[in-house]
Amino acid sequence: MRKTLATTILAFMAMALTGLPLLANGGKGVEVNYLGVNNVLVRIVGDGRYLLLPVQESSEDAAVNVLADGRLDRTIYVRLAKTKVDYFVPFDLAPYQGKRVVLNVVTSQGRSTVREVKEDACWRDLALSDTFDTSNREKYRPLYHHTPLYGWMNDPNGMFYKDGEWHLYYQANPYGSKWQNMTWGHSSSRDLITWTHHPAAIEPNGLGTVFSGSATTDPRNTAGYGSDAVIALYTSAGASQIQSLAWSNDNGRTFNLYPGNPVITLESEARDPNMFWNEDTGEWNLVLAHALEHEMLFFASPDLKTWTLRSAFGKGLGSQDGVWECPDLFELPVARTQESKWVLLCNINPGGPFGGSATQYFVGDFDGTTFTPDTDDTGMVTTKWLDFGKDHYATVSWKSAPDNRRTVIGWMSNWQYAAEVPTMQYRSANTLPRELGLFYAPDGQVYASVTPSPEMEGLRDKLAVDIKKMRVKDSGTEVMLPAANDGICEILLDINPRKSDKVTLTLKNDAGDRVVMVYDTEASTLSFDRRQSGIVDFSQDFPAVTVAPTFTGGKEMGLRLFIDRSSIEVFEGDGKFAMTNLVFPTKPYTSLSINADDATITNLKIYSLSVN
Ligand code: FRU
Repeated sequence: MRKTLATTILAFMAMALTGLPLLANGGKGVEVNYLGVNNVLVRIVGDGRYLLLPVQESSEDAAVNVLADGRLDRTIYVRLAKTKVDYFVPFDLAPYQGKRVVLNVVTSQGRSTVREVKEDACWRDLALSDTFDTSNREKYRPLYHHTPLYGWMNDPNGMFYKDGEWHLYYQANPYGSKWQNMTWGHSSSRDLITWTHHPAAIEPNGLGTVFSGSATTDPRNTAGYGSDAVIALYTSAGASQIQSLAWSNDNGRTFNLYPGNPVITLESEARDPNMFWNEDTGEWNLVLAHALEHEMLFFASPDLKTWTLRSAFGKGLGSQDGVWECPDLFELPVARTQESKWVLLCNINPGGPFGGSATQYFVGDFDGTTFTPDTDDTGMVTTKWLDFGKDHYATVSWKSAPDNRRTVIGWMSNWQYAAEVPTMQYRSANTLPRELGLFYAPDGQVYASVTPSPEMEGLRDKLAVDIKKMRVKDSGTEVMLPAANDGICEILLDINPRKSDKVTLTLKNDAGDRVVMVYDTEASTLSFDRRQSGIVDFSQDFPAVTVAPTFTGGKEMGLRLFIDRSSIEVFEGDGKFAMTNLVFPTKPYTSLSINADDATITNLKIYSLSVN
């Protein structure tokens, strides 16, 4: 707004009356009034689709109360810049067209005078703009893993497949690259490789922010929103954690909130509802994480709205070291048998095998009421892990995936350091989509197999290395990774260790960064050492060695490795284990060396990968 003589006089009059410097000196298209040591009004006076909010990650959150025509529309929490601007986040003004928008900003940083508040970097850089630039500015942004366009992401949520589209929602903060303002972000894909980003699907509302949950189609129209509707259940996180329902009539693009919410309440913390239609019993079942009680609760419903608690499972079983979160429950056939078993995914944080977050699971039976876990010969329930890296959490599956597939995806990070990793425009990627199966291991128990989804073969570009057979002795062998393409590749190989105690695979670059993987044939394990993998010092929990049981008896082992700009996923050839670890090499890895006393490597193939 142009400052006229009249408004200047008015401002001075106001100052004289209140003692406050009620002067405007904001960025373009905004007028800023400093009301007190922690209270500032920002009036939108110009035109533009977005108000760009300047963020400094080390700042404290400011509460930004958005008033539309004087009424409070919403409150968002933003780390408004104090001394320098790290990046901008867009506040979309499109929904407020024709309304007068004023932000009442309450900063949490103690200031003793209004003059100090005025010095904060954010005010002069507030700007209106018709565009928000989302082109990638990050060295470590993956090429082929799903990431948000900008801002923070944690758990995958509400995945369902419908009409040829894989829908993926996720815990998102649209206003910064650290956890806050939990919202369901939304992406979809037809090939599980290229993702289209959609506007936020479910935003914080009167009952709280929108925590994790699930979504399903409802072909029987049990909920009454039509046989084509998509129903989401999620945790409303307000003063307590309660479960809410939302429904969509446009294939999950936009959701309507059920006015009868919440649909489940409990006295203690419970979250991340995951529901599915139980064919055997002809009703809905739902698993809810009774987080602090370290157990999962099972409910049933005819209509997705009225839920009855049937049973609880887990107290004293498996890893109990952290909170239980993000459950999933489904039935799978056991390979090479006529049997099928139920799998209960139970993400825990902390308490993972290498510290922090991890996905444990139980195999057993479920009759619509009770989950009964398998036991070993001694009657004990074995603790099982779905992945043996440090960066695999909140894994859940897609509903109604084609061909009876059980396709899962996980958050490729760890609560120990997710907010500290060396990226800023965005934080966190998801793992590759994976297919789950079940198999009998030599110990007589049933375990989950994990293989990359078949669509991942579509990433293959050039076959850069193709070696049918080679003998590795003493000094070892080195093969170059595809130089172009930032070292992004897929590596396949079969290792016959012969009499070697160890076979060592080392990925490295000329900056001295290295990832060392050792197949220990005596222990029948594969270890992954990222202590010198590149940038590791942003958290004391990041440098680590992770170890997977190979179930190979120390004999031949096939491996499949997927390398992206900041992650390595290792799969045993048949999926007997998976291992997911982030890495931040200062330069891309350029070679793979293989060392052993005397081993044979067959079918070594390296593909450069690309996304069309
Ligand atoms: C797991 C989790 C969930 C919760 C969500 C909040 O990472 O803690 O239990 O719903 O994150 O963002």
